[in-house]
Amino acid sequence: MSRDLTPRQIVLELDRYIIGQNEAKRAVAIALRNRWRRQQVPAELREEIAPKNIIMIGPTGVGKTEIARRLAKLSAAPFIKVEASKFTEVGYVGRDVESMIRDLMEIAVSLLRSEEQERVQDKACQQAEERLLDLLIPPAPKHGPAAPPTDPDHDPAEAERQATREKFRLWLKEGRLDKREVELQAPDKGNLPMIEILGGGGMEDMGISIRDMLGNILPKKTKRRKVPIPEALELLKAEEAAKLVDMERVVSMAKERVENSGIVFIDELDKVAGTSRAHGPDVSREGVQRDLLPIIEGSTVNTKYGMVRSDHILFIAAGAFNVSKPSDLIPELQGRFPIRVELSNLDQEAFVAILTQPDNALIKQYTALLATEDVELQFEPDAIQEIARIATEVNESTENIGARRLHTVMEKLLEQVSFDAPDMTGQTVTLNGEMVAKTLAPITKDQDLSRYIL
Ligand SMILES: Nc1ncnc2c1ncn2[C@@H]1O[C@H](COP(=O)(O)OP(=O)(O)OP(=O)(O)O)[C@@H](O)[C@H]1O
Ligand SMILES: [Mg+2]
Repeated sequence: MSRDLTPRQIVLELDRYIIGQNEAKRAVAIALRNRWRRQQVPAELREEIAPKNIIMIGPTGVGKTEIARRLAKLSAAPFIKVEASKFTEVGYVGRDVESMIRDLMEIAVSLLRSEEQERVQDKACQQAEERLLDLLIPPAPKHGPAAPPTDPDHDPAEAERQATREKFRLWLKEGRLDKREVELQAPDKGNLPMIEILGGGGMEDMGISIRDMLGNILPKKTKRRKVPIPEALELLKAEEAAKLVDMERVVSMAKERVENSGIVFIDELDKVAGTSRAHGPDVSREGVQRDLLPIIEGSTVNTKYGMVRSDHILFIAAGAFNVSKPSDLIPELQGRFPIRVELSNLDQEAFVAILTQPDNALIKQYTALLATEDVELQFEPDAIQEIARIATEVNESTENIGARRLHTVMEKLLEQVSFDAPDMTGQTVTLNGEMVAKTLAPITKDQDLSRYIL
C-alpha cells in the first residue's frame, strides 16, 4: 500500500462503486490508512498497535459486502469473505474458524505468486524465446566431451547457424512462424488421474489436499507432442516463469502480507449473536463466538505454509442486526470491534444514483450487454425515476431487500428485449417512464405477484 492512498483518496475510490454510506466509507478508509501508518512506526511500538476492527450494521442490500470487496481490491491486500453462520464450534461437523486464516494464507500465496510471475515476466519471455529457437535450430552437435567451444569467427558453419537463428528470431517477433508447429515436451492434458478420496470430516480443513500430496508424488505427466508455435511459446513462458519464481520467497512474503495487511470480512455476524437462549441449536452460536475470539484477539494458526499470526489482521464484520443487537454478542467479542458504523436505508433518490452513476451501474451493464447484439438501449430520465420508484414501492410493500431489488426490477423490465435482441439488430430501444410503468404495472398492482416476481 502506498503513501498516496489517503483516507480521502480511498473514499473517492469507493464512491466510484458505492452510493452514499459515507460514514462506513470513512471508517474503513481510516482503518486501512492506519495499517499503512503502523508500518511506518518504530518496530517496538508497531507490535503494540492493534487494528481497529469494524462492525458494519445495516439492513440487507445496502452495500456492506460491496464496500468490503472494493476496499480489498484497492489495497491489494489479501482478503477473504466468510460467513459467520457457516462456522461451527470446534468438535462439530462443519468448518472450524481457523480455516479462515488458512484460506487467507492460500489466497495470499496465489496473489504473491502472480505478482512474482509478473515481475519475472520479461526474463521468462526471453528465456522462452531462446528455448524455442533451440528447438527450431538445434545447437551444433558436440564432438566428444572435450570439444572446444564453437567460435563463430573461425567456424563458418557455426556463423551461419547463428545467422539463421537471428533470422528466425526476427520472424518469430513478426509472427511469420505462427502457422508452423514444433514438437516439445508438453504437459499432458487431463493431468492427474481422477481419484476420489473420502476424507473424514475436517480433512480438507487440515489444509492438506490429497490431490496436492499425490501431485507431488506422482510424476507430472508430460508427453511429446506437436503444438503450434504461439502455443509453444506460451507453454515455455509459463515453464520458465515457474522456474524463475522462488516459492520459498513467495511463501514468506505471503505470510508477511497476511500478518500485516490481511483483511477478513465476517459477514452475517448477527446470525451468531444471541447468548441468552441456551437451548437447541443456539448452544453452538455462543461457541462460534468463543472460537472467533482468540483469532480476532490474535493467535497463531497452523497452516500448511507454517504458523501464521493473526494479531494484526483487520477484521470487518457485518450484519443486519435486526433481531439481535451488537450488544447480544459476548462482551469479549464486542470489545474486539471498537468501531461501529451504521449503513442507512436507500431511498428512491439513492436508487436513481445507483442505477446510473457507479462504474458498474446496472443501466451501463444492460446497455453494454445489448450492444453486443447491436441493439441500442436508451433510458429517458423519467424511465430511471420510474424504475427507482417501483423498486422503492415494492421494497416497502413486500420485503426490503435494498438495492438488490433493482436487479429484479430491471431483469423483469428488460425480459422481452433480452429475449428478442438477436432479431432486433440495428434497432434502438428507448424507454420512458410511461413504458416502464406499463410494462411493470400488471405485477406491481398485485402484491402477491410482486412477492413472487420482483
Ligand atoms: N450504496 C450502494 N451503492 C451502489 N450499489 C449498491 C449499494 N448498496 C447495494 N448495492 C448493490 O446491491 C447489491 C447488494 O449489495 P451488498 O452485497 O453490498 O449488500 P449487503 O449490505 O452486504 O447485504 P446483506 O446484508 O444481505 O449481505 C450489490 O450488487 C451492490 O452493488
Ligand atoms: Mg452482504
